[in-house]
Amino acid sequence: MTVSAVIPGSFDPVTLGHLDIIGRVASQFDRVVVAVLENPRKDGLFTVEERLELLRTETASHGNVEVDRFQGLLVDFCAAHDVDVIVKGLRAVSDFEYELQMAQMNQRMGEVETLFLSTNPEHSYLSSSLIKEIARWGGPLTGTVTPAVEAALRSKYGSTDEADGG
Ligand code: PNS
Repeated sequence: MTVSAVIPGSFDPVTLGHLDIIGRVASQFDRVVVAVLENPRKDGLFTVEERLELLRTETASHGNVEVDRFQGLLVDFCAAHDVDVIVKGLRAVSDFEYELQMAQMNQRMGEVETLFLSTNPEHSYLSSSLIKEIARWGGPLTGTVTPAVEAALRSKYGSTDEADGG
């Protein structure tokens, strides 16, 4: 029996924290689907296509990871894609309250379980929002995103400035 997990998120853009979780989940499950939310109410910095492309590039080394997009409810995506469990990374206690609420609601709506993985402490302070803020002002991004994601961020903000020296 194949056990499949979904890692949902906005991934605007994917960070090293996300990639750490994806790699660790890929080593525990037969199949992993990274699902990018298409949110019609919220424009991201990156288009959904750009996020998918960056994710596909950065997860290409994992043979059991697929990257997909979804609209609407995550439980409907799980049902349509034969996903057994939702996996979320928890960075801090502050993440927990909302994540618990969503996990319980998803359990109730779709009978899909959510498993939480603690984020590697090296990445526990990372968030896509903070990274965009730093990139916007040309700040250093070393240790937060991959070189390809950094290049994409620098190009979005119209800067070729290697502010962090690499
Ligand atoms: O990276 P994010 O923005 O924190 O991810 C949030 C996400 C995509 C996991 C969450 O917003 C979600 O699952 N949205 C899909 C809509 C849905 O199913 N809502 C009900 C949750 S109980």
